[in-house]
Amino acid sequence: MQLKGQRALVTGASSGIGDQVARQLAAKGADLVITARREARLETLAEDIRRRYKVEVTVIALDLGEPTAPQQLWDATEGQDRPVDILINNAGFGTQRPFVDIPWEQSLQQLQVNLVSLTELTYRFIRSMKKRGVGYVLNVSSIGAYLPCPQFATYASGKAYVRNFTEALAYELKGTGVRACCLCPGGTATEFSEVAGQSLSKAVAMTMMSSERCARIGLAAMFRGRRNIVSGLFNSLGMFLLRFVPRRLAVWIAAKVLT
Ligand SMILES: NC(=O)c1ccc[n+]([C@@H]2O[C@H](COP(=O)([O-])OP(=O)(O)OC[C@H]3O[C@@H](n4cnc5c(N)ncnc54)[C@H](OP(=O)(O)O)[C@@H]3O)[C@@H](O)[C@H]2O)c1
Repeated sequence: MQLKGQRALVTGASSGIGDQVARQLAAKGADLVITARREARLETLAEDIRRRYKVEVTVIALDLGEPTAPQQLWDATEGQDRPVDILINNAGFGTQRPFVDIPWEQSLQQLQVNLVSLTELTYRFIRSMKKRGVGYVLNVSSIGAYLPCPQFATYASGKAYVRNFTEALAYELKGTGVRACCLCPGGTATEFSEVAGQSLSKAVAMTMMSSERCARIGLAAMFRGRRNIVSGLFNSLGMFLLRFVPRRLAVWIAAKVLT
């Protein structure tokens, strides 16, 4: 699929899956608006993408934990008559710790980034897409959306919200020309674990998917019109088998795998 003349907004583009999504969309010819907090990282990525793919890249450094951030992104794009055809809600983080031990401000920040900003960005941009009768949204969830995860209680619950929200939205959007897709990655080699304070064994680290492959799976599913995709055969099989596991056992398994 060639995306020349289309504009994609990618959140969380300063590393990991978001960085790869931005590169892959640019490789297909899309102009980009990339955002995250680390401006220097975004500028380096923008330079590299412009040089390789000759597309337009706009950098907007902001904190999606701030309630005004989605409006700022809107003002800088659609507000300037620069429509966004593809919205990638990828920014997110987790914290590995019992819920009560995480400072409330940190949990609040996580809910704001992972859920509230994602929902507001979807709301704002999808309304314009619907008027134009075309557009794509990819919301990045997690396989954590499939079960309660001790030590990642709010994170995984939030990802369940993202999954249910996106699938419901995809249904509502039937026949409008706008597509919404949810990507549920399993363990992916990015900065996620470091940010979450997770110490991974070498064996677990070796089973992780590359961010390049995860991004490719998500984009392909979105363009094919899938409502939900779990990255990789092993993860997909695991999530399918979970349907037959009693919930109490699923929580126990999650606790054992994650700690
Ligand atoms: N890696 C995995 O194993 C895994 C598994 C399942 C789901 N996921 C999901 O995949 C998505 C991408 O994560 P990743 O694995 O690529 O991790 P990552 O390398 O840590 O990237 C996370 C991105 O989110 C941005 N971000 C975090 N907090 C932000 C804030 N307050 N405001 C704006 N941007 C913020 C970060 O940029 P700045 O720090 O520069 O702001 C960074 O660009 C996340 O939603 C994550 O939950 C990852």
